[in-house]
Amino acid sequence: MKIIGGSGSKLLAARVAELTGLSQVDAEIKRFPDTECYVRIKEGLSGEEVVIIQTTFPDENLLELVFLQNVVRQEKPSRITTIIPYYAYARQDKIFKPGELLSAKTVAKLLQNSSDEMVILNPHKPWIADFFDKPVKILSSSSEIADYLKSRGVELVVGPDINASMFAEEIAESVGCDWDWLEKKRISSHEVILGKKEINAKGKRVAIVDDIISTGGTLTKAIEVLKSSGAREVLACCVHGLFINKAVERLKNAGCAEIISTDTVETEYSKISVAKTIAEALSPKR
Ligand code: R5P
Repeated sequence: MKIIGGSGSKLLAARVAELTGLSQVDAEIKRFPDTECYVRIKEGLSGEEVVIIQTTFPDENLLELVFLQNVVRQEKPSRITTIIPYYAYARQDKIFKPGELLSAKTVAKLLQNSSDEMVILNPHKPWIADFFDKPVKILSSSSEIADYLKSRGVELVVGPDINASMFAEEIAESVGCDWDWLEKKRISSHEVILGKKEINAKGKRVAIVDDIISTGGTLTKAIEVLKSSGAREVLACCVHGLFINKAVERLKNAGCAEIISTDTVETEYSKISVAKTIAEALSPKR
């Protein structure tokens, strides 16, 4: 089995290779001056099992993943496993208005063409797996997040909405602390309202956990609610840190003590790695 990491998941692929002892495929991935993508495999892969690791945000990484799958397929491997650390377009998982595209399904159809199975880290909704006709394994980074939050002495874990409540509960159980959730109403892609709900945050170091930080709007509001409930310190934590526009500035201005994300999208806030979870999922096959 060999690993190939796309340019959006270079560090993560190297970490997985180190943990598993698997070698990385000798490949050339670069951009032409006009930013178009170039991929080349520099070794034979005939009969090999190949694992491709590439995040799908932003769009150029999604296209690069399709190119990687196709160039690997060309080499006639015995099996291709595609590991998608962050599955983009997952928030467009329903047709909300007539005439809309079910983008999450379109991405699934695109990515399954040249892959035998898929592995997805914390997809926005688990039913994303149903959009594929190929086997899909879903992994969760909750234990790595819990280890980090425990090391930071977190005393309460809060989900910013009902959808994040199970994630908050799972993490809090591993941390060994209380958990709760807030009531969120989305007004637009840039604006949310968080309802008042009694939260026992007084004097506590609190971590708000969500699957995605995009514009930071959700967690900024959550920080404000928790601060007004008397939290001593609030940490903003997510699996997939997209940090669009001024997300980081907004979180800091709201008084966020620390911004934490995993390496499913590699940024300076990727303080937690999901490499161990991926390595363990690959181990039974080796
Ligand atoms: C929404 O359902 C997600 O779980 C996140 O809460 C949302 O994507 C965060 O977006 P933003 O940072 O723009 O509020």
